[in-house]
Amino acid sequence: MTAVVKTEAKARTFGRNIESDLASRFLRVVETAAIASAHTMGQGERKLSDQVATEAMRKTMDSIPMRGTIVIGEGERDEAPMLYIGEKVGAEFPDGTEVPEVDIAVDPLEGTNLCATGAPGAITVLAASESGGLLNAPDCYMEKIVVGPSCKGAVDIDAPVIDNLKNIAKRMHRDVEDLVVIVLDRPRHEKLIADIRKAGARIRLIGDGDLSAGIAAAIIGTGVHAVMGSGGAPEGVITAAAIRCLNGYMLGRLVIDKPELEERIARMGIKDKDKIYEAEDLAPGKQLIFAATGVTDGSLMKGVRFFGEGTRTSSVILTLRTGKVRFIDSIHLEKGPDVKVRFV
Ligand code: FBP
Repeated sequence: MTAVVKTEAKARTFGRNIESDLASRFLRVVETAAIASAHTMGQGERKLSDQVATEAMRKTMDSIPMRGTIVIGEGERDEAPMLYIGEKVGAEFPDGTEVPEVDIAVDPLEGTNLCATGAPGAITVLAASESGGLLNAPDCYMEKIVVGPSCKGAVDIDAPVIDNLKNIAKRMHRDVEDLVVIVLDRPRHEKLIADIRKAGARIRLIGDGDLSAGIAAAIIGTGVHAVMGSGGAPEGVITAAAIRCLNGYMLGRLVIDKPELEERIARMGIKDKDKIYEAEDLAPGKQLIFAATGVTDGSLMKGVRFFGEGTRTSSVILTLRTGKVRFIDSIHLEKGPDVKVRFV
C-alpha cells in the first residue's frame, strides 16, 4: 500500500522541478567523468583523456530518470560516437512514472591539453535545463566578455578595451592597474593583449579553459575580474548557464568567418549572425543546472585525488530557480569497506 502511494506521489511531482530532482544526479555525472579522466592525467594523450571522460559521462547519464537531449556535445552525429548533438540520453522509471524532458550541454573534458599535461584548470562540466533552455550554438568561436555581478551592463563588446576596463574598475572601486583579466594565449589575441597592457591592467594568459575562467570572473575573491577574447561558442553557452546562476554578466557574439559557417547557422535557425548575446539569450532556461568537477587543480576546485582505495573530488553545482551555489567535496568510498575518511 505504501509503495503504491509513494509511486503516485512521485508520478504527480517528479521532474516538475528539474533542479531539485536532478541536480545531485548531474553531480554524479561530472564526478565520474572527472575520476575517469584524472586517471589519464599527464599521459600526454588528450584524445584518450577526452574519450574516457565522455564514456563515463554518457554511461552515468543513462542512470538519470529523464528524457534528455544533448544540444551541445562532442560534435555532430557523424563525427562523435557518443554525446553527439541530438543524442537521447537518460532512463525511464520501471513503473512508468513520467520523467522530465531535459536539454543538456556537455563538455566532458574542458581543457583536454591541461589534463594531458597535468596543468591546472581541467574540469568536467555540463549545463541542463527544461527543453529549449540552452542555445544550440554552432561549433565556432565566440567573442566573449565575462564579468561579475557588480559590472552588469558596464561593458560593451564593441567598445575600446580601455573603456571597458575603466568601467569595470569603477564598478569594482579600484584602479585599472588593479584588475586581472584572463585571456586565452592565442595569436588571434595579440591586439587584445596589447590593448589591455597599454591600459595598464594585469593579464593572466591561459593555455586553455576560458569556461572555468568565466566562472571565476563571476565569483568575488578569485582574483579574476574579467575574461576577454574569443573562445569556443559551445563553451560560451555553458559559461552563460553558470553566469546566470551566479548573477554575473556576459556578452558574446559568434565569429562567423566562413561561408560554410553561415550556412550552418542558417540551418540551426540563427538569423542574425552579428547578434550580441547576453547570458539570458545563450541560456534562457527558467530552470538551469550547472555542474562541474575539477580534474586538475584550479582556482575554484581541486583536482581529483586518489588515496589507496578511495577518491576525493571537488565540484560546484549551481541552480538558477532555487538560487543555490554549492561547493561540494565528495569522498567516494565505493571501492571497499576499509577506505579511511580524513577531515580537512
Ligand atoms: P578543449 O577542452 O576542447 O581542448 O578546449 C579548450 C579550450 O581552450 C576552451 O576553453 C576554449 O573555449 C577553446 O578551447 C579555445 O579554442 P582554441 O584552442 O581553438 O583557441
